[in-house]
Amino acid sequence: MEEERIINPELEDASEERLENSLRPKTLDEYIGQDKVKENMKVYIEAAKKRGEPLDHVLLYGPPGLGKTTLSNIISNEMNSNIKITSGPAIEKPGDLAALLTNLSEFDVLFIDEIHRLSKSVEEILYPALEDYTLDIIIGKGPSARSIRLDLPKFTLIGATTKAGSLTTPLRDRFGIVSRLELYTIEDLTTIIKRSSRILGVEIEEDAAKEIARRSRGTPRIGNRLLKRVRDYAIVLGDGNITLKIAKHALNKLEIDELGLDEIDRKLLETMIVQYAGRPVGIEALSATIGEEVDTIEDVYEPYLIQIGFIARTLRGRQVLPPAYKHLGYSMPSFEMEEA
Ligand code: ADE
Repeated sequence: MEEERIINPELEDASEERLENSLRPKTLDEYIGQDKVKENMKVYIEAAKKRGEPLDHVLLYGPPGLGKTTLSNIISNEMNSNIKITSGPAIEKPGDLAALLTNLSEFDVLFIDEIHRLSKSVEEILYPALEDYTLDIIIGKGPSARSIRLDLPKFTLIGATTKAGSLTTPLRDRFGIVSRLELYTIEDLTTIIKRSSRILGVEIEEDAAKEIARRSRGTPRIGNRLLKRVRDYAIVLGDGNITLKIAKHALNKLEIDELGLDEIDRKLLETMIVQYAGRPVGIEALSATIGEEVDTIEDVYEPYLIQIGFIARTLRGRQVLPPAYKHLGYSMPSFEMEEA
């Protein structure tokens, strides 16, 4: 479904991956936003280089589409090392991970996306690898089985996850550097969209870039996706340049409202307002009512709705807040709201 795709930063196709690769900054200085993470990372990288050691293992967490993969590429670039990219679900057996680890070179970065989805047996191989760069493998079965220990090259693991809370404690404890990526400000997104336009070779008015930024729900991947669609309208309806008028027209056609909300956001908020009469509702019930998975609501929709103050998490469930009523044109219920 097109409506779902445009907002859901988790879903990427091959052409989008190519676009993202071409837009991807290569250095920390080119990387826009996430200032705290960037500043800290600069220090850690410089110190590791001065010591002649690999960078400590890094855990990056936060909503999808904020540039965790991009940042990992930059880190390996800044460390002058190579990066190998994989994901939790792709590593099915302990042997798969053993093969990846033994093929690394000294100082390489191993990037594991969705690291919360590693199986327990794979995770256990990872602990000694992270702790002292060793690999314990068991050879044979039954009484004749024995364990041998292999030395691994000194490497850096970068794990990325949308769900830091789903990581087991022993795994989380083995990351020396833990950074949370935040939703981007409109200013930073405007800069990113202008930069992407420049790379794509399209002229864009400042206020058109800002309009796209305002509707990108804090997420560069969504901003770049909207930019591509707006560019199509500019080519067909205009001379290819993106004006504010064309941007607004295109974004309205995409049914993305002034705050970047799409049909599913609106359905979610309306369900909370109408069906649950504005009272706190559990995420499971909400999921069943609107027909979206709990994970999708938690990872994709909720972070932005919380950020703009439309919903809150309370002890008794999700609570829809006054600005959401106002935005959707509903009057407020008369009961007291829960404390967040
Ligand atoms: N493209 C996507 N995310 C970006 C970022 N944080 N900085 C620069 N370009 C980007």
